[in-house]
Amino acid sequence: MEILVTGGTGYIGSHTVVELLQAGHSVVIADNLCHSDRSVLDGIRAITGQIPVFYETDCCDRAALDRLFQRHPKLDAVIHFAALKAVNESELLPLAYYANNLGALVTLLQAMQAHRVNQIVFSSSCTVYGTPGNPPVTEQSPIQPATSPYGATKQMCERILQDAVHADPSLSATALRYFNPIGAHESGLIGEKPQGVPQNLLPYVTETAAGIRRELRIFGNDYPTPDGTCIRDFIHVSDLARAHVCALEHMRHVPAGWRTYNIGTGRGTSVRELVDTFIRTTGASVPFRYEARRPGDIGQIWADPSLAERELGWKSVKTLEETLLSAWRWQQHITNLEK
Ligand code: NAD
Ligand code: UD1
Repeated sequence: MEILVTGGTGYIGSHTVVELLQAGHSVVIADNLCHSDRSVLDGIRAITGQIPVFYETDCCDRAALDRLFQRHPKLDAVIHFAALKAVNESELLPLAYYANNLGALVTLLQAMQAHRVNQIVFSSSCTVYGTPGNPPVTEQSPIQPATSPYGATKQMCERILQDAVHADPSLSATALRYFNPIGAHESGLIGEKPQGVPQNLLPYVTETAAGIRRELRIFGNDYPTPDGTCIRDFIHVSDLARAHVCALEHMRHVPAGWRTYNIGTGRGTSVRELVDTFIRTTGASVPFRYEARRPGDIGQIWADPSLAERELGWKSVKTLEETLLSAWRWQQHITNLEK
């Protein structure tokens, strides 16, 4: 198949491009490079031996998307990663988040309709479940009020897709609700590049181990969990990337329609467990101290991913140890590049 990947030079997008190329698909990337750079294409080439077609294109720019679809009249499907994703930033810049995340999806869907491309896989998030009840979370768990403008954009995008599918019976849309993607490609050649001080746990851990940060702050050890720290479902980004290939293949064999799947491991890991496992498997040192809870954090969440296994034939296979080692390999790669 020929697939348009928006946000394809970003963290999850680049790993998905690798999986798509290795599965024999052709890829066209559209990314405006607001949160990534072209050097990612070198990493993709080094891993796969192929260079995907790349357009520096904003998905809110309808004319640019029309040109892209005209140049690639055989596109079969779109995977839409392009979005702004920082929860804290979305509190400060809600309008930028609504304009970009909703604008890009609506513009893309209009362009797809005009050029008769009728399959889309959308990057959603477990954040749509808000503060859920007892884990694990299934796709039937209620959608709760969003806890940030970022989370609201994911809920609204899902609604936009549902409405679009309802109005156009030829359209197929699958939302993959990611839990906590971490790690990097096993080659250590592509990975996550946080801008400035990392907000997410594992990039902070690897930067502390690399000596870039002095110590990790663990936010809260008084949660009602076995060790008092929060529990999350951390999933290797390459496992997550593979879920997109499975979702596309599934779409070809089922009637058009709207579908959602949880993409997680089904295992909860506490923050403290993750830090201890990182130290044990890498041999690196990670000084840490406990701090007060981070506002907005939920105590525990993990996925029930059994629907994805049953319907998409997908499940995660990487262990936590290999996931953490991959993140460490990537951190060492970027630290060396910056020397
Ligand atoms: P990322 O920031 O690394 O990648 C997003 C890419 O989209 C970047 O390359 C950026 O330049 C591009 N982009 C943003 N707006 C664009 C626009 N208007 N037009 C063209 N390109 C644009 O983020 P990521 O972690 O790879 O996330 C990918 C998707 O997965 C996002 O939709 C995100 O909300 C979603 N998601 C991520 C996580 C996570 O923990 N990383 C969890 C759940 C969902
Ligand atoms: C957050 C977002 C989620 C988003 C994901 C990736 C919320 C509610 N969820 O998930 O929508 O998809 O980021 O961008 O905001 N922690 C520390 N020290 C740190 C950093 C984190 O102890 O320096 C802890 C946090 O308190 C949390 C856990 O590590 O308990 C995971 O945090 P993080 O990696 O930021 O992910 P989430 O908050 O789960």
